[in-house]
Amino acid sequence: VLTFSHMRRTALILAAIFAAALCALAADGDRPVPFPANYREWVFLSSGLGMNYGPLAARADETPRFDNVFVSPAAYQAFLKTGQWADKTMFVLEVRSSESKGSINIGGHYQAGLAGIEAEVKDRGQWTFYSFDDGVAEGKPFPRTASCYACHSANGAVDNTFVQFYPTLLPVAKAKGTFHLSAR
Ligand code: HEC
Repeated sequence: VLTFSHMRRTALILAAIFAAALCALAADGDRPVPFPANYREWVFLSSGLGMNYGPLAARADETPRFDNVFVSPAAYQAFLKTGQWADKTMFVLEVRSSESKGSINIGGHYQAGLAGIEAEVKDRGQWTFYSFDDGVAEGKPFPRTASCYACHSANGAVDNTFVQFYPTLLPVAKAKGTFHLSAR
């Protein structure tokens, strides 16, 4: 016979399971990501000089900054075959200041000190953006309201990413038909 106390106990157990599942879901998207210390051995996509679109841009009184883009090697190989970013794809955006006067150099700019490291990870179809403070072991996720999400999803030519600026991947995306023509 199902008594009232049975029912109450069952309801309590169900509520506890439900709460635990909600916690797991909520924690998932906001999990920190380990710093990929070997990202300099990943595939180099491009280097922008003095590009101006986000918070890590140089101030008007500073020399232009370089941003170096790296992607995890397996994701790069998969992209060559499909024109799409597979799950667990990770990007690193390394921002560096520039200098013009040094050694034998008399013109142009070369890369200097680190100004910031940001990252982007695709997990179960969803992208999350991270920042890495100097020397930390884990990256903090940016909240979903941060400017990263809106700009990347509106203007990235392939699945949230700026393939329009990566010269070796642009022709791949066009050939595979994954390049969004509406991207600016
Ligand atoms: C106004 C638009 C804009 C905003 C806001 C923005 N980005 Fe980007 N992001 C870009 C562009 C343009 C590139 C291409 C850089 C290049 O070609 O060197 C880029 C590239 C990247 C990449 C390399 C992978 C890719 O998607 O192509 C990462 C990682 C990245 N941004 C992280 C961030 C993070 C983290 C934030 C938020 C703090 C952010 N971005 C905010 C425009 C934006």
